[in-house]
Amino acid sequence: MKVLVIGSGGREHAMAWKLSQSNKVNSVFVAPGNGGTHLNPKFKNIDLVDINLLADFAIEEKIDLTVIGPELPLSKGIVDLFRSKHLNIFGPTQKAAQLESSKDFAKDFMYRHKIPTAKYKTFKIPDEAHRYIDEEGAPIVIKADGLASGKGVIVAMTLKEAHDAIDFMLVDNRFGDAGAKVVIEEFLEGEEASFMVICDGKTILPLATSQDHKRLLDHDMGPNTGGMGAYSPAPIVTDEIYSKVMKEIIYPTIHGMANDGIPFTGFLYAGLMITKKGEVKTLEYNCRMGDPETQPILMRLKSDFFEMLYKSSTGHLDSTEIEWDKRTALAVVLASEGYPEAPKLNDEIHIEDRVISDSYIFHAGTIFRDNKLLTSGGRVLAVTALGDSVKEAQSKAYETINTVKFNGAQYRKDIGFRALNNN
Ligand code: AMP
Ligand code: GLY
Repeated sequence: MKVLVIGSGGREHAMAWKLSQSNKVNSVFVAPGNGGTHLNPKFKNIDLVDINLLADFAIEEKIDLTVIGPELPLSKGIVDLFRSKHLNIFGPTQKAAQLESSKDFAKDFMYRHKIPTAKYKTFKIPDEAHRYIDEEGAPIVIKADGLASGKGVIVAMTLKEAHDAIDFMLVDNRFGDAGAKVVIEEFLEGEEASFMVICDGKTILPLATSQDHKRLLDHDMGPNTGGMGAYSPAPIVTDEIYSKVMKEIIYPTIHGMANDGIPFTGFLYAGLMITKKGEVKTLEYNCRMGDPETQPILMRLKSDFFEMLYKSSTGHLDSTEIEWDKRTALAVVLASEGYPEAPKLNDEIHIEDRVISDSYIFHAGTIFRDNKLLTSGGRVLAVTALGDSVKEAQSKAYETINTVKFNGAQYRKDIGFRALNNN
């Protein structure tokens, strides 16, 4: 079978890596891919991002399954386009992807289906938004309605920050259309976790739990990023919390979408806030796998990833089982200097040949040019390792990091600290 993976990050490298392990798969194309997928002879990078050209490519190459990494092509309707051309693709339709591409759509959906989430209101008019903030007080959370490359959420600890965020989005239009509407939301406190499932519209297959590290610096300090490290499983998601998430969030979401006439197919990612009292609330939905959560999750997956996604894309997920490595997998992201504000690019990356068992270096912002591996993005690599304990996975990941060098590399030294405190 021939598979096409769309995207260029660490998540897509991990997906291509896992898909290529299936004995049913003989070619894996990655569009556009990165330096890591270029260097691996098992994959072939395709320099395309336009969804129409990708569909033409899939027809020409007779691709059996297309899998999408990031949200942007989903929000542009790549699934609808491929299906209209009778191409097999795994992911949500443009309408279903609104769970991620419109915060207002997602909040309205959660309210209608009684899915626990923070109290909110949506605004287009700056004066009304400012007045609401004054009434509610700080801390308070301001979210651009649309996709804003992970920068659309401001957790405002003061009223000034909240008012500034409104001016930034509604007055100065700094996110364009994506910020023409804002959701203002109650500030929730607790511990976050990532909960992902696969769905074919009817059957739900939960993936292993995980936890991300959104802040740039150790001890969860510094600005928000796309994610600086992750591990799986997340001990905070106890059996009791797991059942609660399935009952209060996942089932009502999948059934709610089906009842609304928008059946959900693809990966559904619920960003959770777990409060001290053990309540679970939905912070957000994503309609894709998380990055960097995918890297440790797929490192633990023992089942055939291709078969799971192929069966799901053809509506036969009910005949699929999933098996996980019991060990912990932990990924540490190496980012370039200046990330997230202004990442410095084009630094040469040196990776020693030394192989450390049960570890893998997934590439993200890398490119192979003039016979050199160079940095080409903010998050450069995700070094991922398996261990019998969180501590062991952590030690191995940090040992592997020592085999990588590039100027200005920055990474957190405490990935996994919550799981270690939980043990
Ligand atoms: P989102 O993209 O909606 O997940 O938001 C990005 C990050 O902002 C989350 O991972 C949380 O750390 C934080 N966040 C979002 N919504 C809230 C909320 N209602 N209360 C507290 N923090 C939040
Ligand atoms: N790591 C968070 C996300 O992928 O949205």
